[in-house]
Amino acid sequence: MTQREYSESTDRIVQTEPVVVKRYITFTRVNHWFTALCFIVLMLSGFALFHPALFGLTALFGGGQNARWLHPFVGVALSISFLGMFLQLAHLNILRREDLVWTRHITDVVSGNEERLPELGKYNFGQKLVFWGMFWLILVLLISGVAMWIQYFPELVSIETRRIAILVHSVSAVLIVLVFILHIFAAFWTQGTISAMTRGTVSGGWSWRHHRKWLRELARRQRTKPAE
Ligand code: HEM
Repeated sequence: MTQREYSESTDRIVQTEPVVVKRYITFTRVNHWFTALCFIVLMLSGFALFHPALFGLTALFGGGQNARWLHPFVGVALSISFLGMFLQLAHLNILRREDLVWTRHITDVVSGNEERLPELGKYNFGQKLVFWGMFWLILVLLISGVAMWIQYFPELVSIETRRIAILVHSVSAVLIVLVFILHIFAAFWTQGTISAMTRGTVSGGWSWRHHRKWLRELARRQRTKPAE
């Protein structure tokens, strides 16, 4: 008779409710999706004004004139909205020693070999890079955009400076679209992430796998101060 590796009478899998971890409050999620909506409007109206071949996109906004006045106002709305996210999340995106180790093990990240990676806080290096990339590019887009806003600030800068602002604005816009694509790709590629921004929660398994230091910190805090 073969020897079993378990005790038939006592060992069993106990099914309990899965652990759910709260990652974002409603305010942050509304703030995020409003920023995302502004971004998509800006991207489409911006592309429409960027090259004659894309002028057809102005139809989405009721014509060229509408796209032209709408674009800068939505730009200001996005800047204010992103500032809201910045104030809530900047301190969590400060680079730390473990980010360097994580970057050195990038091949393990790509191949899903998590056990060789350091334990991470709320965000990994890739997410932090996206965060700071968005921050600096939005700042540059805002400043160069105001310099180009002739209707309201006709005398703000010289014609030469405005020409430079147009070039800077276009290059920054292309860069931020690339950062945006990276952000969406990462959000879908890492299974279980989207619910963080839709429902505000992630699973305990997801937290353990990708942000163990953050999960341990939450557990430690709740042990000393039970949740209300
Ligand atoms: C429309 C497509 C978008 C999708 C599907 C999306 C999805 C997500 C998801 C799932 C998260 C949570 C990630 C996590 O907690 O680990 C997140 C976080 C975040 N998103 Fe988005 N997002 C989109 C657009 C944007 C845009 C346009 C911006 C800014 C211009 C943005 C800025 C952020 C920031 C700042 C965070 C927090 C991450 C950090 O602080 O490092 N997102 N997004």
